[in-house]
This record gives sequence, structure tokens and C-alpha cells, in this order.
Amino acid sequence: MALLEISDLSKRFGGVRALKDVSMNVEQGEVHALIGPNGAGKTTLFNCISGLYRPEQGAVRFKGRDITRKASHKIPQLGIARTFQNLELFRNATVLDNIMLGRYMHKRTTFFSEALFLPKARRQEVESRRKVEEAIDFLDLQPYRNRMVAGLPFGIQKCVELARALTLDPELMLLDEPSSGLNPEETQDLCFRIEDIQEELGITVLLVEHDMRVVSEVCDRVTAFDFGEVIARGTPEEVQQHPEVIKAYLGEEEEDAAASA
Ligand SMILES: Nc1ncnc2c1ncn2[C@@H]1O[C@H](COP(=O)(O)OP(=O)(O)OP(=O)(O)O)[C@@H](O)[C@H]1O
Ligand SMILES: [Mg+2]
Repeated sequence: MALLEISDLSKRFGGVRALKDVSMNVEQGEVHALIGPNGAGKTTLFNCISGLYRPEQGAVRFKGRDITRKASHKIPQLGIARTFQNLELFRNATVLDNIMLGRYMHKRTTFFSEALFLPKARRQEVESRRKVEEAIDFLDLQPYRNRMVAGLPFGIQKCVELARALTLDPELMLLDEPSSGLNPEETQDLCFRIEDIQEELGITVLLVEHDMRVVSEVCDRVTAFDFGEVIARGTPEEVQQHPEVIKAYLGEEEEDAAASA
């Protein structure tokens, strides 16, 4: 059984069919890339998995369980954490506060058990603190913990978002364009981080990625999209050489050339 199974998923926005009968699997333990030109439907798929969008058709199964209609705030509790295409951090808060928010947004205690500081609330508090410190150590954020996010290099900000997702103790991480905006050195660092997340923490990763060097370096398998449909799947080499993929990217380059002419 695959860890994540997407079957016949379709999502429409007015006249735009953002996803059309999409089926794909993510296996336990792999790093799996979603590639495809702008507007191909990659983020829409992430939003369907994480409960932000309701697909009109099809199903999302996680560990064999149907999660298609789960509310978005319940998804992290099941073991799926994500980062966003446009960094979603509180820029005027510290690194520590941003990372702590990851846990506090999904707490399971009630207001009363917290007000009275009952044992369950206390246990969760200790556990949350431990997870936050582990994530800070794992991503080498110790020197930045009390710094304001706004003044930090972009690569560090991206690590803060990764750390916040890690505090949820996920089995699956969804990363939407983790390398966008990073310089070559930061991109290489990100590749090492993703490998560590896979190998040391045993977390399965599904990422949207435009940088083919990142895809080749860290991904086991790739699914390529164009206009909401899967056009190729396989290893990074297989998919990059696939005629449909070459055509999809060439089409995009031609559009760019026409736009700048
Ligand atoms: N909330 C929305 N309302 C209306 N249309 C949307 C919405 N979200 C996505 N779309 C449309 O669905 C299609 C797929 O968009 P999506 O953001 O999933 O693409 P993407 O593959 O992530 O692209 P990019 O590489 O630019 O991030 C696009 O045509 C987009 O305009
Ligand atoms: Mg996107």
C-alpha cells in the first residue's frame, strides 16, 4: 500500500480545469517531485491533499484512509505537514515564535484544561517544547532563534518554515517550491536538508520543484503535470527525457519569448 494515493482527482475553477482525473502514488520513504510548467495544477494538488480545496471528483487516501473531505486543520494531526509557495511566516516575530506556532496552531487541549494547567495540557506543553528544540537543532537554527524573521537571509527563512512543519512530527511533508528564491549555495544546502529529512527522520517528502538539479539530486521519482493532467512519471532521468515533458517546457519557453518580444 502506498503512503499517499491520489485517484481520479478533478478540480475546477470556473472554466479552468486545474486537475483532470489525476492519479498518482507516493511510496513510504521516498522523495517524490511534482514538476510542470506554471499553472499546471501542482499547488492545486497540494491544496486538495491538505484540505484547503474540495475536489469535485476522486479521492485522496493517506495510509489507506480516505481523507478527501477532511477539514484542513485536521490534516496535520494525521501526519501531513506542508510549506507554502510564498513563505507564510510572521515577519515581525522571532524564529522561535514562528516555529512554536506550528505546534500551537494544532493543539488538542481545550481552553479549560489549559486554564487549569491540567496534566494533559502540561504534558503537551513539555512535548511541544521538545519538538520545537529538536527542529531548531536539526536545521541548525540555534544562532537565529531570537532573531526577527524579517532581517534574515531567505535561505534561513525557508529553514524556519521547514522547522515549523517538522514540529508537527509528520510522516509526509509537502514542500511547494522549496528552492524558489534561493541562491546556488542555499539551494545545495536545501538538498542536504531534504536528504537528512528523508534518511535521518524517515519522513516521506512530496515536493513541487522547478530546479531540475534539485530534482535529479534528491528525488527518487517524479510525476510531471501539464494543464492539470499527468503527462509522465518515472525516475528523474526518464521524466526529463520524456517527449511530452520536453514539449510542455518548450511551449512555456516559446510563450516567454513571445511575451518579451
Ligand atoms: N483559487 C483559485 N481560483 C481560481 N483559479 C485558480 C485557483 N487556484 C488555482 N487556479 C488556477 O488553476 C490552475 C492551476 O494553478 P496552480 O496554482 O495549481 O498551478 P501550479 O502548477 O502550482 O503553477 P506555478 O508553477 O505557477 O505555481 C491555474 O490556471 C490557476 O490560475
Ligand atoms: Mg504553484
